Amino acid sequence: MARPRVAVLISGRGSNMAALLEAAADPAYPAEIALVLSNRAEAAGLARAAAAGVPTAVVESRAFRGDRPGFEAAVQAVLEERRIALVALAGFMRVLTEGFVRRWEGRMLNVHPSLLPAFPGLDTHERALAAGVRLHGCTVHLVSPGVDEGPILAQAAVPVLPGDDAAALAARVLAQEHRLYPAALAWLAEGRVAPDGRLEGVTAATGSLANPLPGRSRLHTPGSEA
Ligand code: GAR
Repeated sequence: MARPRVAVLISGRGSNMAALLEAAADPAYPAEIALVLSNRAEAAGLARAAAAGVPTAVVESRAFRGDRPGFEAAVQAVLEERRIALVALAGFMRVLTEGFVRRWEGRMLNVHPSLLPAFPGLDTHERALAAGVRLHGCTVHLVSPGVDEGPILAQAAVPVLPGDDAAALAARVLAQEHRLYPAALAWLAEGRVAPDGRLEGVTAATGSLANPLPGRSRLHTPGSEA
């Protein structure tokens, strides 16, 4: 059976896009990345996609001067022309209209660098540090109207460590995004994702992650009690 044709939508670096391309290079992967589309011609990810031999397209959002429906109509035309079945948002920094989202309902994923519903929007790592959370992470979800909203498919958690700054935390989370997003897109392509985000035939995690490790302090030595 033909693999569903996926468009990856980016605005910048494209490291998640690269992770998806790498996974989809395996003939056993259940989806084909048929297009990488950016709303910015200078997005670094476009060159990476082209180097991997994947067709690219640019629809400059700037040219539409705030006319979101006009911008999205242009994007939609490209997606239709390329016979795209599924959309993967990968650092695509445009707020989408309800009309566009409804059109792709159940067929569009997003990856977000926090454990949603905590910290939607921008600067997630700075906000996680400011909030003092001990666990942070990333989420892959179906896209609903509303910024970073929609049924959750999968999440990966990482510890927040003493001395972390936003860059260190972002790097730890990003490594998990690169693991989780290709897996989640495969589940969608295989038809394992229910409209509410529930997964069929996917192994649930067992065990838990606690941070810091519960138990006695490392500094405790027998006989140190007063
Ligand atoms: C990623 O961390 C992604 O989760 C985030 O932008 C970054 C893009 O990096 N997306 C959002 O914040 C969406 N709300 P990348 O271009 O290297 O994949």
